[in-house]
Amino acid sequence: MTAATTSLKPAAPRTWRVGMLGCGVVGQGVVKLFNKHREDFKRNGFDLQLTQVAVRDGKKTRDVDLAGVKVTLDPLAVAKSPDVDMLIEVMGGNTSAVEAACVALSRGVPVISANKAGLARSLTRYLEAGKAGNASVAFEAACAAHIPIIEALDRSLACEEISLIKGVINGSTNYILTLMERSGCDFAEALADASAKGFTEADPSLDVDGIDAAEKLSLLAYKAFGVHTPPDQIHTEGIRNISREDMELARQLGHRIKLIASARRVDGQLSVSVHPALVHVGELLADVDSEFNAIILEGPAFKELTFLGKGAGQLPTASAVLNDCIKFARGMGNAAALPGFNKSAHAPTPGARTTALSFCYFLRLPVISAGVVDGIAAFLEQQNVKVLSRAVAKNQSGEFLGLITDVVKESRLQHLLRTLSRVDGVTGDASFIRLDKDNYREIVELEQRAYFGTSLQRESRAGV
Ligand SMILES: NC(=O)c1ccc[n+]([C@@H]2O[C@H](COP(=O)([O-])OP(=O)(O)OC[C@H]3O[C@@H](n4cnc5c(N)ncnc54)[C@H](OP(=O)(O)O)[C@@H]3O)[C@@H](O)[C@H]2O)c1
Repeated sequence: MTAATTSLKPAAPRTWRVGMLGCGVVGQGVVKLFNKHREDFKRNGFDLQLTQVAVRDGKKTRDVDLAGVKVTLDPLAVAKSPDVDMLIEVMGGNTSAVEAACVALSRGVPVISANKAGLARSLTRYLEAGKAGNASVAFEAACAAHIPIIEALDRSLACEEISLIKGVINGSTNYILTLMERSGCDFAEALADASAKGFTEADPSLDVDGIDAAEKLSLLAYKAFGVHTPPDQIHTEGIRNISREDMELARQLGHRIKLIASARRVDGQLSVSVHPALVHVGELLADVDSEFNAIILEGPAFKELTFLGKGAGQLPTASAVLNDCIKFARGMGNAAALPGFNKSAHAPTPGARTTALSFCYFLRLPVISAGVVDGIAAFLEQQNVKVLSRAVAKNQSGEFLGLITDVVKESRLQHLLRTLSRVDGVTGDASFIRLDKDNYREIVELEQRAYFGTSLQRESRAGV
């Protein structure tokens, strides 16, 4: 090394002037983390300076100091500003936030977004704007906040053929289901508790009807399979119809009820759905409680991978935003936002309907008395649907049977349910919840062997 080179001063860090749309829960978290890590940025050869922020109410008191930051009520002005090199979108919504983000992208400004609703519905628009401007949108924070699932799909698993991505990805519904299970309360009471604690969106239907989970799943499935399924094309069922009796019967049958979001390859097609499911106790997803999220990936080469962590909240989400900013600042951003590797040769075609799929099912039937169970099981078996386990629960209005069936095609099950209400002893309509595992028969066999040392009928332990 020569004297001339040793005397050179280190290059000044490249400073990125950052505009931010929104300064609410997540936005204020981003400001806190920007301030906390300022010296770390510089030590790593770059700087992130928040220069402009758009909000709805310029007079609102905020938990962070915005001295020196230009505050405006016009998101589009921030997106168009020649003084903004990077745009964070933590404002939400499907209209002006999307418009502003796409304007920035088309001008060549990278965008970091936590806005799952806007991204999932308008992803094509973001990608086209990014192509026009040669800029990318990164959205780790939009899918399960700080769980680094997008990073894993984009990079670590870039050329893997994913066969399944599934998980518990809505903390509010998971909190409600956990509370119903632990306290025995009904859905309405658990929802009131979750809303009072601030665990639901201002409009709780976004959570409890599965819409939030469908938006995240749309983005996750895009990264895993390279196929975009907008939320309105995802089969989506929420948790409003889950009753105390479902909880009790599932518990007796060795399961817990979770809202499961999944996208899987089925015979070359992609099936994407959000619905409640019974998860066998001992499976990882059964143990994901309250506001935690978990995501499981399966693929022929790596078999199974699991991610677990906080799926929402100010700092987990803001931290995911910050890490995407750092990737752009360090020149790693564009790759971060591509749909993984080009997997088009293996991409499934969209559209497998749940009615065309087969699952094991949990059935809940109101009955005159538990004594009618044999007749009901015989009826189902005449229709070639084997009953694997049974349980009974009571409330003031009567008795309920819970049955778990062997694998059956959903269209066939729905037809059978219509006739089941006419079987002797059944006093009302049957309802069903899918099981998360279609190899439930194997689980039962393994359990029985471990418990009894032989393959006895599970019914002898199930209380009917
Ligand atoms: N909260 C979480 O845990 C979480 C987790 C993952 C993803 N996200 C996503 O992150 C985004 C932000 O969530 P949040 O919880 O931070 O929401 P929030 O607290 O309601 O904040 C929204 C911010 O956007 C501003 N805003 C709204 N409409 C505007 C408009 N038309 N023009 C200018 N500013 C506008 C609001 O301004 P005012 O403050 O003046 O009202 C507020 O600062 C959403 O897309 C959400 O889905 C949130």
